[in-house]
Formats: sequence, C-alpha cells, structure tokens
Amino acid sequence: MDAMELKKIQLSVEVYRFAEELQTGDAELLSAARAITAAAYAPYSHFFVGAAARLANGEIVKGTNQENASYPVAICAERTLMSAAATQFPGVAIEAMAISYDNKNGNSNKPISPCGVCRQMLTEFEDRTGRPMKIIMSGQKGEVYIVHTAKELLPLTFTSGDLKG
Ligand code: THU
Repeated sequence: MDAMELKKIQLSVEVYRFAEELQTGDAELLSAARAITAAAYAPYSHFFVGAAARLANGEIVKGTNQENASYPVAICAERTLMSAAATQFPGVAIEAMAISYDNKNGNSNKPISPCGVCRQMLTEFEDRTGRPMKIIMSGQKGEVYIVHTAKELLPLTFTSGDLKG
C-alpha cells in the first residue's frame, strides 16, 4: 500500500463558555444575531435563525431565514445576509459573522453551524472579497464556537478554480 498517501485535514474550533468571554466586537455581533432571530419567517420549522455581520467598512448587515409554503424555496439566514451585504456594499469583505437561533420546539443553548449550501456560498464570498471571515456560532445562551475562516468548515472545497480545469 506504499502508493497511497493519507491526507489528514484538521479543524480547529475555539470554544468559549459564554458570550461574555468574547472580545467586545464579537460579543456585540453575537447579541445582534441573537436578537434578529425575532425577524425570521419560520412558520413551518419554528426554527428562527439570525445572522449578523461586521463588514470591512464597519457596516453591520443582518439576515434571517425566510421560509415558504413550498418548502425548498426557504433561504437560510446566512445566505440572506450575504445577498444583502453584496447588494448594499458590493465588493466589501465580511470580517466576522455571528449565527444564532431560537428553536421554538426545543432548546437553543448550543451552537449551530451553517448548512452545507451556506458553507459553499460562504467560501466563495471569502474568495470574491479576498478575505477570510470569522464565524461565531452560538444559541441564545451557552457555549460559543469560533472558526477563523469559512474554509475550515468546508474541507476540499469546490471552487471557481476547479471550473477552469
Ligand atoms: N437554517 C438557517 O437559516 N441557517 C442554518 O445555519 C441552519 C438552518 C434554517 C433553514 C430553515 O428555515 C430552518 O433553519 C430549519 O432548517
């Protein structure tokens, strides 16, 4: 089996016990993400997601999940946010994005991380703006996870470079 090489890909996640342990800017962003869950439209899943981002120009942009009676039409909070940011501030990088949720059917006390589709869009957002994005993940309370680039959440990412062959 000499021909085979085993490539190990590691993920490093910072774990904080509470929001109070974060640096001020990150704590403010997480508070905004927690609060904006109230603006989600989630009458089907009852899972209200909120995201808040600080852009490289200092602007704060928010997003929430928007569901639909035709279920697959739903858009996640993270992609709502990126679409809004890219439209209102074209070409401006996102320095940090906080993601939170309020699960009306259960607890909201542990972090969630972005779905696969959002990870794909997050990584291309980093590429097109030329800057890594800090991602801060937490429920309404409790532990906070931080990764320093979306790429860390999507190893072996498919990118525009792959289309060039
Ligand atoms: N959702 C998000 O908005 N972001 C996530 O990171 C996970 C899932 C939404 C999609 C759907 O409206 C609801 O949460 C339940 O999946």
